[in-house]
Amino acid sequence: MRIIGIVGSPRKEKGNTGRLMLEVLKSAQQQGATFETVALPGGTVLPCLACDTCHKKGFCPQRDEFDDIMGRIMASDGIVLASPNYIFNVSAQLKAFMDRCCGVIHCLGFEGRYGASVVTSGGGDEAPIAEMMNHFMITTGVTPVGSVWATMGSFEGDEFPDEIVVRARALGRKLVDDWRKKNVPADIAERKVRFAERMRQLMLYRKDEWPYEYQYWQKKNRL
Ligand SMILES: Cc1cc2nc3c(=O)[nH]c(=O)nc-3n(C[C@H](O)[C@H](O)[C@H](O)COP(=O)(O)O)c2cc1C
Repeated sequence: MRIIGIVGSPRKEKGNTGRLMLEVLKSAQQQGATFETVALPGGTVLPCLACDTCHKKGFCPQRDEFDDIMGRIMASDGIVLASPNYIFNVSAQLKAFMDRCCGVIHCLGFEGRYGASVVTSGGGDEAPIAEMMNHFMITTGVTPVGSVWATMGSFEGDEFPDEIVVRARALGRKLVDDWRKKNVPADIAERKVRFAERMRQLMLYRKDEWPYEYQYWQKKNRL
């Protein structure tokens, strides 16, 4: 299993979120997976221009790191998304990346992959952020297996308490295990089916405006 870890923090892999993400990835590695990481410190993946080129022609005209990261995701079997809590949400850095995946979402372009999410905060409120990240994964076709988070203000120093490390490592193992067994829990399967139907309807509605995406669905025989 090849996994890509994407951390949306200017502190990159050495920040709190990056370090917790690495606990997940190293645990997956112990199960036989390989991993690579990408940091989004800001400015390397620019915000979406809302030009609709991805929908119409299947590519993004912006020349930044996005295409390279996309290539790496397409070559992977698993995705770990990691973000600090920035004002009750994912960081703007990760959100810019998510927004650039609009075309991916319309085509469920990451289908078949498995994912997990990682959040750290100063004072809490991680659960809705992790849920949003997992929901994003569902909309790209990924099966999320769970999340782990840490509230940095709830313990002394920078080292994660054992209990959090245990959870991060369990998540890494589950990511590999679920991918191997192709496990899809019933609730996630239902959400995936519902979202896919929504995108199918969207394609039928936008078939003239968004020829690339319409033809993508046609080629897959899913219309
Ligand atoms: C711009 C900014 C906004 C933040 N907003 C929140 C917040 O709303 N709630 C919170 O608990 N922590 C907040 N934090 C703290 C970070 O979530 C926390 O320090 C996190 O662990 C940083 O991760 P990193 O080291 O990977 O960047 C904020 C930090 C920054 C820089």
